[in-house]
Amino acid sequence: MSLIEVKNLTKTYKIIKKEDGLMGYFKNLIRPKYEEFKAVKNINFNIEEGELVGYIGENGAGKSTTIKMLTGLLTPTSGEIIIDGIIPYEKRIENNKKIGAVFGQKTQLWWDLPVIESFRLIKKMYKIPEGEYRKNLKNFTELLQLEDLLEKQVKNLSLGQKMRCEIAATFLHIPKIVYLDEPTIGLDVLVKENIRKFIKDINKEKKTTVILTTHDLKDIEDVCDRIILLDKGQIIYDYGKIEDIHMKEAELEDILKEIYRGAKIC
Ligand SMILES: Nc1ncnc2c1ncn2[C@@H]1O[C@H](COP(=O)(O)OP(=O)(O)OP(=O)(O)O)[C@@H](O)[C@H]1O
Ligand SMILES: [Mg+2]
Repeated sequence: MSLIEVKNLTKTYKIIKKEDGLMGYFKNLIRPKYEEFKAVKNINFNIEEGELVGYIGENGAGKSTTIKMLTGLLTPTSGEIIIDGIIPYEKRIENNKKIGAVFGQKTQLWWDLPVIESFRLIKKMYKIPEGEYRKNLKNFTELLQLEDLLEKQVKNLSLGQKMRCEIAATFLHIPKIVYLDEPTIGLDVLVKENIRKFIKDINKEKKTTVILTTHDLKDIEDVCDRIILLDKGQIIYDYGKIEDIHMKEAELEDILKEIYRGAKIC
């Protein structure tokens, strides 16, 4: 049994059917008509413990929708997800204990509190033993250079500073699986490198499974050892272990560029 098993997964959103003109606009306000939109279409994949998976595709491909279903935030329309033996959207609390998640620029830290207080709250929420908390905090402070940030209020941090704290908070309870939905968006080159190195180090040390969505090809090349390509809600390629198939970086880049031009490759 794999750590993550996804079978025939589909997500359909109900959206308001647009009607033309001003009259259409008012009609929509009073009595909206709905239509269905399939954001994720019958996808299948398995992920093993310790894998670093890049889940990629152009805007609107269905990446965040998939991640939200994997984290239990959304319920699939059909299909099955089993993560470490449980169905995430049925047992959200049990699932939450085992995972960490970063969603773009949304923060899980307490806005008005100093960073260290957010970390202490996370320690309490996840019941992290004192010794383990201290060890992880020391380690993460060094790796992500948080020393000068811990006493600052979250609302006063820059984007890159906040993301480094966010990443530390996500890994603090040493989750089995971490979902990172565009963790490097808008960050400068040095912060990006810092975060990539951190993810790789923790994965190596703790065998944390990481699923990463990104539009940054360097994230994929540097961090991921497997990529799954999504196009209009369907998986069009699952590369398995990149190193297994001896894919050259340039070759991978060509394929990704082709995908981002909207072309199918299989
Ligand atoms: N709550 C929603 N209601 C209706 N449609 C939605 C909803 N959320 C997403 N969608 C649609 O589903 C499709 C997939 O969206 P999703 O956010 O999963 O894409 P994505 O691959 O994460 O894109 P991006 O790279 O821009 O983050 C898009 O066409 C989007 O408009
Ligand atoms: Mg997204």
